[in-house]
Amino acid sequence: MKFFVDTADVDAIAELNDLGMVDGVTTNPSLILKSGRDILEVTKEICDLLQGPVSAEVVATDADEMISEGRKLAEIAPNIAVKVPLTWAGLKTCKTLTDAGTMVNVTLCFSANQALIAAKAGATFISPFIGRLDDINLDGMELIADIRAIYDNYDFNTQILAASIRSANHMKDAALIGADVATAPPAVIKAMANHVLTDKGLAQFLSDWEKTGQKIL
Ligand code: G3P
Repeated sequence: MKFFVDTADVDAIAELNDLGMVDGVTTNPSLILKSGRDILEVTKEICDLLQGPVSAEVVATDADEMISEGRKLAEIAPNIAVKVPLTWAGLKTCKTLTDAGTMVNVTLCFSANQALIAAKAGATFISPFIGRLDDINLDGMELIADIRAIYDNYDFNTQILAASIRSANHMKDAALIGADVATAPPAVIKAMANHVLTDKGLAQFLSDWEKTGQKIL
């Protein structure tokens, strides 16, 4: 499973990228707001950091304007994936941009039918939102499994990009189902390395080592 980082915080991306853990980045208007940065500037900076896809989201709601915004975002760098909402205008934009060779990430997906229609429109990535479905007492992970089954039934090339990931368990479950990509905030990716027994075991080893009176260096 590829790891995308869901943030517009350049330092946080760089830190994980130095460990080879960043296969791509996703942003959205809320994350741009949180960064306090200009969308074009910060997105360019992120694109220069890594080779993988960097999603930048349009904000227009009608197809013509969305296509123009998408083309402008795509000019930032060759690794831009234009992010469009799963609306009819978004699907039209998806088809136009992918036909022109631009990667498109169709976002705000909450049903298997939405994922199916996005694949038909040629989406490079589909972004089902796990956490937001869980928030309203639905099963976000079941949606990932349904989309996996449907895409595999017909050999769609659209990559499942599990989004709205809130916990390390979400990462594990998405990987078990076979999501192609999971995008998560830096804190969730870091939390994947944590285990209470690792901390406990290390404390024991260090205390025993102290008693040997030895040094390695
Ligand atoms: O990039 C979209 C996304 O991952 C949203 O996550 O936590 O705001 O639902 P969240």
